[in-house]
Amino acid sequence: MLSSPAGVSECFREWEDLEKDYQQILDTHRLYKQKLEEVTKLQNSCSGAISRQRKKLKELTSSLEKCKKKHPTPKLSPEEFESIAEIQESIKDKKDNFLEMEAFLPKKNGLYLSLVLGNVNVTLLNKLSKFAYKDEYEKFKLIVTVIVFLFSFTCNFLFSYRALDALFNFLLVWYYCTLTIREGILISNGSRIKGWWVLHHYVSTFLSGVMLTWPDGDLYQMFRQQFLSYCLYQSFVQFLQYYYQSGCLYRLRALGEGHNMDLTVEGFQSWMWRGLTFLLPFLFFGHFWQLYNSITLFKMFQLQECKEWQVVMCGCSYLVLFMGNFLTTLGVVYQKYIINQDKPKSL
Ligand code: COA
Repeated sequence: MLSSPAGVSECFREWEDLEKDYQQILDTHRLYKQKLEEVTKLQNSCSGAISRQRKKLKELTSSLEKCKKKHPTPKLSPEEFESIAEIQESIKDKKDNFLEMEAFLPKKNGLYLSLVLGNVNVTLLNKLSKFAYKDEYEKFKLIVTVIVFLFSFTCNFLFSYRALDALFNFLLVWYYCTLTIREGILISNGSRIKGWWVLHHYVSTFLSGVMLTWPDGDLYQMFRQQFLSYCLYQSFVQFLQYYYQSGCLYRLRALGEGHNMDLTVEGFQSWMWRGLTFLLPFLFFGHFWQLYNSITLFKMFQLQECKEWQVVMCGCSYLVLFMGNFLTTLGVVYQKYIINQDKPKSL
């Protein structure tokens, strides 16, 4: 840029420089588009090759199974049995590898994402952007958790207006809906989020929607305080969860990239177990609070003055949440325990 008034010859020189720069930009952009086309071709050929291999591996698996079961003549020797077992193990590894590879390849969105976003490609093409997206998801949850905490505190202790409660429930509906979309994108990018946690957010969206439509009255007021206290507690637990989950994320990333030489697999596992054992009592307390909410609502449903359908709907939703959360959390902890026992040196 020209900093002071200049003569015409200086302007011409500047223009020539800019022209050269412009040509370079055009060349770089042409190269970029060419590489993009190459990448698209590579993506298509990789996706095609994977689906062909998958099909063939499936056929081979069933043929091997048949060979093992039917013992065709001549009968299989122990060596052949061993080779078959080795092939089967290697097929399993290949299938896992394909899943990892596919996390970096564009794919068709599932039904939900197609309905919400249309058929747009949501696959992030490198590890750094995947990590950044996951990190942003955790931060988004944290920020909304703080808002939910403040909102439920205000409704619980400061103001008691049905309109404010409705606004609060609307915030929850929006929040859980957004989570389901973000989680869909995370799964497309190779996240191992268990199906239940996504389903849990669908059920929570439904529950908040039903709460939003529950008209003010004696029954609503009867449950209001318990519901708001539960929301307060849940946002507190969510805060602990954020600490644990973002800790796991950063440590796993450091391990994967091998940046932090102080961190070992054993170090990660011991941190994870400490975090988990601290978190679990709070989680289970929250799950039993969901059961308590559901029992309270079912008892209210038996009252003669109960006319609102929302009571039984919320009761059922809390029961589903309790069962799903409790069983899945137990399953996750058991799975981690088994992995820890079996393969202390691997993740
Ligand atoms: N919501 C969203 N994502 C979750 C999740 C949850 N509740 N639980 C686990 N995940 C994600 C992890 O971040 C990880 O993602 P990544 O593959 O992209 O890295 C993936 O699922 C696999 O996680 P996993 O190793 O199975 O579990 P974890 O160690 O990360 O977390 C728990 C285990 C038990 C702490 C966690 O599942 C949890 O907090 N569950 C309780 C939720 C709950 O009950 N909430 C209501 C409270 S009242």
